[in-house]
Amino acid sequence: MRKPLIAGNWKLHHSIDEAQTLVHELCEKLADVRNSDILLAPSFTSIPAVAQICASSHIKVGGQNCYPEPQGAFTGEVSALQLKDAGCEFAILGHSERRQIFKEDDTFINAKVHAVLEQGMLAILCVGETLEQRENDELFEVINNQIQLGLHNVNAEQMENVAIAYEPIWAIGTGKTASSDDAAEVHAYIRGLLHGVYSAQVAQNIRIIYGGSVKPDNISSLMAQADIDGALVGGASLKAADFAAIANFPRPLHMASANP
Ligand code: 13P
Repeated sequence: MRKPLIAGNWKLHHSIDEAQTLVHELCEKLADVRNSDILLAPSFTSIPAVAQICASSHIKVGGQNCYPEPQGAFTGEVSALQLKDAGCEFAILGHSERRQIFKEDDTFINAKVHAVLEQGMLAILCVGETLEQRENDELFEVINNQIQLGLHNVNAEQMENVAIAYEPIWAIGTGKTASSDDAAEVHAYIRGLLHGVYSAQVAQNIRIIYGGSVKPDNISSLMAQADIDGALVGGASLKAADFAAIANFPRPLHMASANP
């Protein structure tokens, strides 16, 4: 049984002080939530402070991005090695904001996936289609390419340290959530794809989480879908009460036996 994974992506928000206040509140509110993995991705500048607070809790801290090379003349970049050094246990890679605003392509994202895996951290690979691609019936082709290229040369053993985040771009920050049926269809497609590329075991074990306007009032219907294993939360992760409510979602029956 896959353990749910609830991740907060704070994007470009919060001073170090504000991040510390938020994470103190979250540590208190989430102290009893043991049946999900709880992950937070603050801005780079807040990572050491947040990681220090989380060190005495079960909450894991990660980066929102990284550069593939460990070091060198890459002004302005932060490597997976540096993330680990700062206390990170995971990194979000290929977020649609990185793809769209910073023009990251699948080959570059694949290099980041390898860099994060080499550091023994969890790589959360984001995939998702634009509204135009969905309306042009390109949804599955887009997802297929992003998965196949993003995971190029990642072997079955390394897949134990990979999670996929399906984030339809039209649902991010818009208040529009994919219906749980629509999301479930894509999650099932991704699992099937990984079965074909790897094995039934890899497909069964990998966590595929949903992102895009996840809120306390829609988490339950999303988590009721068999192939949705958690959430990547943007806006609502900036409010302690909302993120705690999401992480505390009522367990659907099929998760009743998930690892404590
Ligand atoms: P929102 O939850 O604000 O829509 O953001 C989703 C997201 O991009 C998480 O990575």
